[in-house]
Amino acid sequence: TDYEVIIPAAGSGKRMGAGFNKLFLELNKRPVIAVTAEVFLADPSCKKLILPVQPHDREEMKRILPRSEKIVFARGGSERQYSVRNGLELAGSCSVILVHDGARPFISAGSIAALAAMAGEKGAAIAAVPVKDTIKRAKDQIVTETIERSSLWQIQTPQAFRTSVLKKAHEAAERDGFLGTDEASLVERIGHPVHIVPGSYDNIKITTPEDLYFAEAILKKQGGG
Ligand code: CTP
Ligand code: MG
Repeated sequence: TDYEVIIPAAGSGKRMGAGFNKLFLELNKRPVIAVTAEVFLADPSCKKLILPVQPHDREEMKRILPRSEKIVFARGGSERQYSVRNGLELAGSCSVILVHDGARPFISAGSIAALAAMAGEKGAAIAAVPVKDTIKRAKDQIVTETIERSSLWQIQTPQAFRTSVLKKAHEAAERDGFLGTDEASLVERIGHPVHIVPGSYDNIKITTPEDLYFAEAILKKQGGG
């Protein structure tokens, strides 16, 4: 299934605490954003890679990314959702669109293909893994509820959609002033079913400093470290 992908890369990496965009940190001498982008650049079904970035990061992004006609830059927003929305304005040449965090370099070609196919068929498909820990709700650090684990999924990206569905969901969110932490939450609220495609625990988001150790272990396992 042919698709376009938006890779939001306009964050500041506050939780990483590096003092600059964490996507410039290197894994095995390659910047995180380059590793992520290359998975898509190597996929012939990926027709366009839309990259929302902050103006002050743009030159550095251009320097470290492979030269490719597939890459187009968009304006980064103050929130991830706004970055994706700005990217969406440059999309529309394929009927399927993926959104994938720049900070998830360990995405597999197999997952991408499964998600794109499912989105083409059903309209919305997201990568996820079953929750391993017991999850409880608490108020003022007193437990109020234990949530039945067998129904819980940890949601990742890529999140894949029919382009028309994602555009409609973003328009509705904008109209209602809704700010979500992922694209699927915008699609859920317009009543469109979102399908889960089981993925891999390797598909971590590089968020805090200890994630760099996990990333090194995953690289080693994959034979790249
Ligand atoms: N992102 C973005 N625009 C924003 C905020 C985030 O494009 N305004 C991107 C990040 O660059 C990252 C992805 O969305 O690739 C997931 O966000 P997150 O892991 O939260 O990254 P940061 O926002 O950079 O980190 P933090 O929240 O710790 O500041
Ligand atoms: Mg963030």
